[in-house]
Amino acid sequence: MKKYVDLILNWYLENKRDLPWRKDIDPYHVWISEIMLQQTRIEAVIDYYHRFMKRLPTIQALSEVEEDELLKLWEGLGYYNRARNLKKAAIIIMKEYHGKFPQTYEEILSLPGIGKYTAGAISSICFHLPEVAVDGNVMRVFCRINNKDWDIADSKIQKRIGEELKKNLPQDSGNFNQGIMELGEVICIPGGMPKCDLCPLKYHCMAHLKNRECLIPRRNVKTKVSEEEYTLFLLKCGDKFALHKREVGLLKNMWEFPNEKGFLTYEEVRKRIPHISSIELSITNIHIFTHKKWFMNSYKIEVEKEFGSYQWVNISDIEKNYALPSAFMPFFEEIKKDI
Ligand code: ADE
Ligand code: SF4
Repeated sequence: MKKYVDLILNWYLENKRDLPWRKDIDPYHVWISEIMLQQTRIEAVIDYYHRFMKRLPTIQALSEVEEDELLKLWEGLGYYNRARNLKKAAIIIMKEYHGKFPQTYEEILSLPGIGKYTAGAISSICFHLPEVAVDGNVMRVFCRINNKDWDIADSKIQKRIGEELKKNLPQDSGNFNQGIMELGEVICIPGGMPKCDLCPLKYHCMAHLKNRECLIPRRNVKTKVSEEEYTLFLLKCGDKFALHKREVGLLKNMWEFPNEKGFLTYEEVRKRIPHISSIELSITNIHIFTHKKWFMNSYKIEVEKEFGSYQWVNISDIEKNYALPSAFMPFFEEIKKDI
């Protein structure tokens, strides 16, 4: 493993991407970027990161932001508990660490929303601690270099990979961790087409030498995705539209268009919605979450007066102040056409 370590480190130092959170090693910057990067592609994160730092340049600012505004900054990134946990952690840092980001692995790990991966990333990148940061990219690269067709969804395997990497961790742990991640993101990419020609390990990688890189990591059985059907009511009154705050389940406390489970007919919609002046079937959308798939139908409905416990708001107000999850965005685009 030792040889790989130097090759990865040197490759990273020469090829690392110029990313906004790499301009310094401020733990606040690294923390926010690492949380955004979980589940989201780097290119998509960059704009969010700039916007977030412009509005919330310090841990103190984050600790004081209103939840609605925070969610608006996070709109479209998904997994909204990540944003809520950021604020919780910022409050703890203000109270218990006098506003200074904690500097030990254990203290960092104890913050809300920070797991082993993130604690390892922050503590190695910012404080040069000898900790590993094992994400899916790292596991894939590790298994390919060592030609192991392990099931990387298995937590025992994850632990084993972490231990193996830790044994060989160089002094410059932060750059090594970022290097092996980045190699997995730009060269040793998932799926059948790693770019071995461009890889600094091409003469040493055990899987590549045996032509087995496409078989690794082993594909595990897909987790079951449950399917749900919804009908959305795109309610319009004058220049205002009805929004509702979700009370339960997935996307709790996010804004949505009023809706009901199941695909409803015109008749069924008419029974539920009062004061209708016009109604037409509108677009459909399918949205895939980690373990759920939503099939959504919608009706555009004009009503004569506002009703129900909805917020009635105009388009520019929605754009400025209401965080709409990506699942509902196509419907928002659709109603904008009528204004
Ligand atoms: N992906 C997530 N965090 C990263 C980091 N710090 N460096 C490279 N790729 C990453
Ligand atoms: Fe991945 Fe190919 Fe590099 Fe091996 S040689 S680490 S399979 S890109």
